[in-house]
Amino acid sequence: MKEKIIFDNLPRHIAIIMDGNGRWAEKRNLDRIEGHIKGIDSLRNILKSSLEFRIKYLTVFAFSSENWQRPKKEVDSLMHLLEQYISTELPMLIKNKINFNIIGNIEKIPYSAKKNILDAIDKTSGYSDIFLALALSYGAREEIINSAAKLALDFKKGKLKNLDSINDDIFSSYLYTKNIPDPDLLIRTGGEERISNFLLFQIAYTELYFTKTMWPDFGRKNLISALKNYEKRVRRFGKIKV
Ligand code: IPE
Ligand code: IPE
Ligand code: MG
Repeated sequence: MKEKIIFDNLPRHIAIIMDGNGRWAEKRNLDRIEGHIKGIDSLRNILKSSLEFRIKYLTVFAFSSENWQRPKKEVDSLMHLLEQYISTELPMLIKNKINFNIIGNIEKIPYSAKKNILDAIDKTSGYSDIFLALALSYGAREEIINSAAKLALDFKKGKLKNLDSINDDIFSSYLYTKNIPDPDLLIRTGGEERISNFLLFQIAYTELYFTKTMWPDFGRKNLISALKNYEKRVRRFGKIKV
């Protein structure tokens, strides 16, 4: 029986850079893909815990725009795992009324995986209890550049009257994350203390939490530690504490 945990102050939106799968596997003399397979179990567990703690938005970095440069064998295996993951999880997403979406350049995803993704997006689009966004073929610079280009096009078409009226909200509405509030907490597993081109615009005032735990080892207890750490943070947003 799991003990009930009380939090004073929970993040509404958690973003996670799920890093360390490859090193987890290499340390055990396993193929890197074994780490990715274990990583999927961690994602399942963390999603379950997020439901338990009623986290409304979860955005997880699964594959970056730069990860295409990895060996073909690893990329192909990851795309295959993704395809399987979505079809296996769909009943769970529906059961828990989870709105599933992806952020990133979906055009680059192979058709067999894309088909499952679009099907899951379609079947869960009516839900608004919990929002799960998978960042796939995602790069923040690409997202920002594309948004600026789309905005310029709308201006040219006369949809935006006045360049001076462009503000955070208007610009945000061009990002992949247009319907999601900015993350309150960003967790990166795997020991690296960098952002690796994730959500650069959206994390302006996000609390950052780095842990050495590799993603395949990250579970409910680790999430609780991150949430307990977040609880103590004082967010000022440039103002002074009142
Ligand atoms: C994160 O784990 C998952 C992806 C980037 C697809 P890595 O594969 O980057 O694992 P490490 O960082 O090499 O250990
Ligand atoms: C970031 O991890 C991307 C994902 C976790 C999906 P990387 O392993 O690609 O990042 P770097 O190369 O260490 O910066
Ligand atoms: Mg990595």
